[in-house]
Amino acid sequence: MPGLTTEWPPWKEYVLDKKVAEVYDADGDYAAAKKAIIEEYGEEALRKSWVKTCAALEKVTAELEEKGNEVIPILSIQDVLSDSVSEETKTEIRRVGCFVVRGVIPKPSVDAQFANLKAFVATNKSLIKGWPDNPPSILNLYNSTPQNALRTHPQQIALMRWINNLWHWTPDPDVSADPLLYVDGVRIRPPKSQFLGLGPHVDAGSLCRWADPDYRRAYGKVFGGLPEEHDCYDLDARKDANQMLYPGDGQSTVLRAFQGWTALTRTAPREGTIRLFPNVKWQIAYVLLRPFFSPPADSAKVMDAEAWTFGGDGNWFPGTFKNDSQYLSSGSHPHLRLKETLLHAPAMEAGDTVWWHADMCHAVDAEHIGTEDASVTYIAATPTTRINKEYMQRQYAKMAKGMPPPDFEHGGSDETKLEGFEGFAINPQLMKELMASV
Ligand SMILES: [Fe+2]
Repeated sequence: MPGLTTEWPPWKEYVLDKKVAEVYDADGDYAAAKKAIIEEYGEEALRKSWVKTCAALEKVTAELEEKGNEVIPILSIQDVLSDSVSEETKTEIRRVGCFVVRGVIPKPSVDAQFANLKAFVATNKSLIKGWPDNPPSILNLYNSTPQNALRTHPQQIALMRWINNLWHWTPDPDVSADPLLYVDGVRIRPPKSQFLGLGPHVDAGSLCRWADPDYRRAYGKVFGGLPEEHDCYDLDARKDANQMLYPGDGQSTVLRAFQGWTALTRTAPREGTIRLFPNVKWQIAYVLLRPFFSPPADSAKVMDAEAWTFGGDGNWFPGTFKNDSQYLSSGSHPHLRLKETLLHAPAMEAGDTVWWHADMCHAVDAEHIGTEDASVTYIAATPTTRINKEYMQRQYAKMAKGMPPPDFEHGGSDETKLEGFEGFAINPQLMKELMASV
């Protein structure tokens, strides 16, 4: 790609009907969030932002159609370790909002860890639950030795610090690029399996982006008529946002500067990889503004931003469910042109990593037409902030006893019951430090 053509998967479309409207009307939080933003910023500013954002997305779409996934920057871990990534490349990474770093874990090491993980999962098959049920793909497994080894590899830690530094902040004793370790699950996806469970979505909450005063303040320029000035990397603006205002399985308490995964096997387009919308600023601006506008009755005019009506469709927030991630669909978010812009990450080998900004729309590849397992383990770049540290300490207390991390209590289980459980056998002191529990 360019050139990679694939059918759009049958991902859910978010459509407003009577039943949906009733759900949004019954919960006053949706109406309250919309009202608060309209009162604070006003129609004129919101409309100005809407028109600018839709116009910018036309250019974004043209760029992504032309370049395909070659727009996603690719670095090698040596570029990072030798501090030789140019400022120009960093600027481009920030603009695009996602990137690949190759060779983070040396291949022999990652191959050995994947073999260990497969054996551990096979031994404990009846006790490790996953999603979907059959075959499970995303495993509710958090504290296995292979995961802990990959999380604490020195090159991984150095990379996390480098990534945290793509954001900026004013001096604050509670804030730094020192990486914290947000513990997450692992995916082992068998070949020839379709997976529609994670269509286009944005992590780190949904309605809380509009409802939490600190969170929505981070998007003040987007609501205030100046979306072009929105800074996606301002940690001062984002560090106190409450991503867990409405707790739920799809939420994370911590702000991850970039979410990421480390490949345990080869993955490739249409072979169980990730799909990304490589322009974070305009995509998140559009998602934030969309509930304030309703489409023209004449569907032929739907791409004409000026034809949309201010006020939105009642209390509907398309794809927004309080206790889940923010979902998107091609019909509900037409100017994103997701069918053209949601691009597969390039082919990756075991030990390579991919990273995407906390506000980036992404999806798990619906297809896996390869012949081998496609496996990744979620390892994010998590900066030190007050909220993040507080979570880490709770996470450490749970995990030191073999229990799942607080954000994953619902699906996880007591891992001390798994045969071969070793807990923090690898790098115990480092695990402790990375969870702010020194
Ligand atoms: Fe996600």
